[in-house]
Amino acid sequence: MKYKAIIFDLDGVICFTDKYHYQAWKEMADGIGVYFDEVINNRLRGVSRMASLDIILERSEKNYTGEEKEKLAAQKNDIYKKLLEQMSPADLSGEVKEALDELRGRGYLLAIGSSSKNTKMILKQLGLDGYFDAISDGTNITRSKPDPEVFLKAAQFLGMKPEDCLVVEDALAGIEAAAAGGFDSAGIGEAATHGKVTYPIEAFSDLLSKCSL
Ligand code: BG6
Ligand code: MG
Repeated sequence: MKYKAIIFDLDGVICFTDKYHYQAWKEMADGIGVYFDEVINNRLRGVSRMASLDIILERSEKNYTGEEKEKLAAQKNDIYKKLLEQMSPADLSGEVKEALDELRGRGYLLAIGSSSKNTKMILKQLGLDGYFDAISDGTNITRSKPDPEVFLKAAQFLGMKPEDCLVVEDALAGIEAAAAGGFDSAGIGEAATHGKVTYPIEAFSDLLSKCSL
């Protein structure tokens, strides 16, 4: 076996929370009169909560203090968490669940490597509580993707070396992070276009046939 473990990004790979992030940031931005649209939202993929806020505030005339920014980020997160409550196991696609089960059956350790501090809540909503062998997320890192910390921690939690793990990502920052940490990667969507991606794939189920797994 070329790899022993697979580290999955969460948002945009295992599930689709983009629309909830968008709605929550939009409500926050409208509240302070700052223009925000879906094109700007695309720049937030894989980016940490505070870095996302800085991107949104590029359109603001006002300079916000650190304390004010914390408040805005907390406000967004409250709205976002309310929206996440609507998620259920029905939001986990059959394609994703079947491929995960098949990979587990082939003997791979499976982990999450996500910048999100809401990872555990999302996994619970999807019915994946306790499913993964390790979870590395926004609560155990000090530097966000494109820094490799989140994936290096995931490998460490699994007791694996980076070269034994394949990272699965949908964000350009995620592929950059994987490459910086010495991991091979499979990229879906925009991530498939990154020059450093090992396996550009079109669908999650391509993991079963196109990634030396
Ligand atoms: C990433 C998302 O997974 O998590 C980003 O792609 C998001 O859009 C980031 O900003 C942080 O998420 P959270 O849930 O901690 O605000
Ligand atoms: Mg993602």
